Amino acid sequence: MLTLDLSDKCALITGATGQLGRTMVRTLATAGADVVIHYHNNRDMAQQLCDQVQAMERQCMIVQADLTKSDDIEAMRQQVEQNMRSPDIIVNNAVIQYDWTTVLTQDLADYESQFRSCVLQNVMMCQAFVPAMIQRGFGRVIGINTECTMQASPTQSAYVAGKAGMDRVLRVLAKEVGEHGVTVNQVAPGWTLSEDAPESDSGLAYAKNIPLKRRGNDQEIANAVAFLASDLANYITGVYLPVCGGNVMPAI
Ligand SMILES: NC(=O)c1ccc[n+]([C@@H]2O[C@H](COP(=O)([O-])OP(=O)(O)OC[C@H]3O[C@@H](n4cnc5c(N)ncnc54)[C@H](OP(=O)(O)O)[C@@H]3O)[C@@H](O)[C@H]2O)c1
Repeated sequence: MLTLDLSDKCALITGATGQLGRTMVRTLATAGADVVIHYHNNRDMAQQLCDQVQAMERQCMIVQADLTKSDDIEAMRQQVEQNMRSPDIIVNNAVIQYDWTTVLTQDLADYESQFRSCVLQNVMMCQAFVPAMIQRGFGRVIGINTECTMQASPTQSAYVAGKAGMDRVLRVLAKEVGEHGVTVNQVAPGWTLSEDAPESDSGLAYAKNIPLKRRGNDQEIANAVAFLASDLANYITGVYLPVCGGNVMPAI
């Protein structure tokens, strides 16, 4: 039988308290991983998730950090290494939310914050955690991107500028660290259903143009993350994997 087994692995998920992150936490723990739950403000959700993971008899800890700050990331690395161990898997999932508007009216501060949230989060997380993966000869970096990066639709400029920059950083990193057994991939959700984002009229209209004729859900995103984290994906690196029912299709 083919199994997806993360039982000897430790996974750190940033933005684990968000609508997609929390399902990634439960899914990686279900696959056997010990989990580090990162949060920014929502400590209650982090604690709830931690209780759920411990009920599965996995090790778990929660860490607070503002991922736009290198000092916070370094403090997080030290806490994780002292209280658990250096993660085999990092999922760079956190995002700063802001109000989308046109290029001509978007506040410059939003471009800077998306650069920090998308590009620098990935750079700083990798600088903190990938060296130990290289030493062990095994690691998984999974960045959460978006279908929006390919669509470049009106009002999304700050977000897709950040996510496109993140994409380029992670492709370069995949080439730089592949020889050490570290893979670097991205999962790119479409507009996803979750407990915080149930179906809506605008969601149904969006789904009409999707080849699979429905929106995906948080579990389907987490399943792709679990697959890329597992040994089943040993020979996959540098991939931008849309999980959006075919709404965008990278060209070859
Ligand atoms: N949801 C979708 O339909 C969708 C579609 C495409 C792509 N994505 C991508 O999927 C990922 C997760 O999105 P989501 O919808 O789950 O987001 P979300 O529900 O808004 O959650 C955002 C997460 O990021 C954390 N966060 C916010 N600012 C932070 C900061 N300065 N430092 C550290 N952490 C911070 C939040 O922590 P606290 O809650 O603890 O404050 C929260 O855990 C993102 O990368 C997003 O671009 C989502």
